[in-house]
Amino acid sequence: MDITIHQNGQIIHIRNSQISYVMEVVDGRYLVHRYFGKSIRRYRGMGVPRYFKRGYSTEHECGQEYVSFDDFPFEYPLRGHGDFRMPAFAVTQENGLTYSDLIFQSVKVWDGKPQIEGLPSLNAGSREAKTVEIICADPKIGLKVTLYYTVIGEIGAVIRHQKIENTGDQVLYLQNAQSFSMELPAREYDFLSLYGTHAKEGNRDRFRLHHGVQRIGSVRGSSSSQHQPFFALMSPDASEEKGEVYGFHLIYSGNFLAQAERDQFGNVRAQMGIHPDTFCWKLAPGEAFETPEAVLNYSGGGLNQMSHNFHRLYREHLFPGNFAGKTRPILLNSWEAMYYDVSLEKIEIQADLAKKLGMELFVLDDGWFRAGNDSRSSMGDWICNEKKLPGGIAKAAEIVHGKGLKFGLWFEPEAVSRKSRLYEIHPDWALNVPGYHMTEGRHEYLLDLSREDVRDYLKGMLDSYLKSGDIDYIKWDMNRPLTDVNSVLLSADRKGEASHRYILGLYDILGWLKETYPSVLVEGCSSGGARFDPGMLYYVSQNWASDNTDAFDRLTIQSGFSLLYPPEVIGAHVSITPNHQTGRVTPLDTRYQAARLFNLGYELDLTKCSEEEKEKIRHQTEEHRKEQEQLMGGTFYRHDVPNDNYVMWSVVTEKVCAAVIFQKFFDPLCSHGQFRLLGLDPEADYEDAESGKIWGGDELMQIGLTVPLVKEDFHAFAVILRRKV
Ligand code: GLA
Repeated sequence: MDITIHQNGQIIHIRNSQISYVMEVVDGRYLVHRYFGKSIRRYRGMGVPRYFKRGYSTEHECGQEYVSFDDFPFEYPLRGHGDFRMPAFAVTQENGLTYSDLIFQSVKVWDGKPQIEGLPSLNAGSREAKTVEIICADPKIGLKVTLYYTVIGEIGAVIRHQKIENTGDQVLYLQNAQSFSMELPAREYDFLSLYGTHAKEGNRDRFRLHHGVQRIGSVRGSSSSQHQPFFALMSPDASEEKGEVYGFHLIYSGNFLAQAERDQFGNVRAQMGIHPDTFCWKLAPGEAFETPEAVLNYSGGGLNQMSHNFHRLYREHLFPGNFAGKTRPILLNSWEAMYYDVSLEKIEIQADLAKKLGMELFVLDDGWFRAGNDSRSSMGDWICNEKKLPGGIAKAAEIVHGKGLKFGLWFEPEAVSRKSRLYEIHPDWALNVPGYHMTEGRHEYLLDLSREDVRDYLKGMLDSYLKSGDIDYIKWDMNRPLTDVNSVLLSADRKGEASHRYILGLYDILGWLKETYPSVLVEGCSSGGARFDPGMLYYVSQNWASDNTDAFDRLTIQSGFSLLYPPEVIGAHVSITPNHQTGRVTPLDTRYQAARLFNLGYELDLTKCSEEEKEKIRHQTEEHRKEQEQLMGGTFYRHDVPNDNYVMWSVVTEKVCAAVIFQKFFDPLCSHGQFRLLGLDPEADYEDAESGKIWGGDELMQIGLTVPLVKEDFHAFAVILRRKV
């Protein structure tokens, strides 16, 4: 990696062996974008648009004739000066004008990477990363904006964020501060995003970028299951295995906006950041604001390579240190087995069977503190219901530990039930707009995490459970969107800060948890994957992907999340059939194969399994434990397959490759197909662990596996190939 500044400080070139990112300072004043893509040795000025006097447009003296801001590739664009495309930044002055300028001031390169106070950001030491810091300012109003660009090692990505400072003597109101803006040349692009809903997250949406703005986002207070804070712009022929892909991901868990605009000339602008609709931040003189970080990922090798860049970046520079790169315990979660109706007896029976079937952790989900067997009460008090669990959590933990399993416990710390002591005593602790009816979600309100007293209460509550040492694992859930977003403590001029302050408060508690209890494994969850984002994964080591545990639907959900996250952080559980969410019946082996390459768990009443099923499960956990160690940290591939009836995944390491092919439906019209492996050594030979047959890496990758046509819907074929030494 290297960052060079040449031509008298005019050209800034960030590069490593994978990517180049080039900017130019035009006329010593305007910071413009020149290139992002495959690495080039040296930038000498190719691609600079030949300016043309356009009608009904603006003109600017700019060293070059007839520069129109209408198609000028600004690096951090503003509105008001003749660039009518989407702006990345807006600030309102005391006089009411939403107007400013950003004039280039200076550039500086340093070793290492900035950390953002109070926000999650990628970690990288001074030998691992280089950063360029560019200052732009509006001296008239005392506004300073520092743009940060970091390249980490040889990973094909640039990390971006901004710091905005009020250096003047008037109050400024920040209305919009996107984490990045980027210009792409006029070409055809497909826009790809992940959309969904509760129990069906992570679906791909792909369409040709047309003229105008195409946007996705969230104003639900969390990143949401409706849209992942991600989008990609890709060449129309791009697939899993080939093509150019620009992937953008925001390291943030709150409201966001992600957008791409194709202007009248075909040029494309991409942006992502905090959603301006729910944001206004007061900057008093001397105050500063930092945006969340965004990852700008470039792949010349299709979506797989984009995923590999994200996976590597997050594995090596984001995930909590204690669990990153480590195998996770195979768990049994109580939810689908007991729902709210938990008891010590049930826990004992399930934990006993779990141990016998090779599981390592028992997670007691919702229900343990509830007055009844529903979601109507008790949230916020966090007092164990001893009618259900005599002896409390300590007793439950003792039983589970006594079986030789680790013990995990479910919490939803951010929520409070209307029917709770906490709400009776502190109604003002909930987000609310005084005088108006409060909107319930799942019979809950949300606590105002921007308040220090609320955060202290929650830390104290968690501490009271964790300090006993009884709890090895926490499932941190959050089950409703934010409404009535108001903190009664915020003054009128700071009301627009509430949504972001909620997230800062959440990060504060999670940061405390990570620091105080680093050996407790924390699973993130939000009604499944409603807050599955890189912001959360800075604090939690894995995330429950979806409340939908149907193996067939999971093919879509997990494929979607795997675009961004490595498999070990994507929670995947084997559950009972007919499936509780879809009613679908799938073979037990397929349910296991769909979960096996991910963060494997079980979530079913084990007493309902036949002896044959139990034997199968025992075999699965045994097999999984053996291969887990070897596959951990491997490269995950989604494969281009002969047709939509199939899904193929594999994990490849130096020594072993595990591949799974799913046949969705039996169809006599289906060709046998050839399923080509990826990422093997073409010069090496591989042994099929089951048949003992030897295949060349080249043959496996060029020709591929064939699978029998099996008369069964939802069938899975699995193969393990070991490299011969
Ligand atoms: C959410 C979670 C589930 C379960 C329930 C408990 O829906 O996603 O896994 O924990 O809450 O109420």
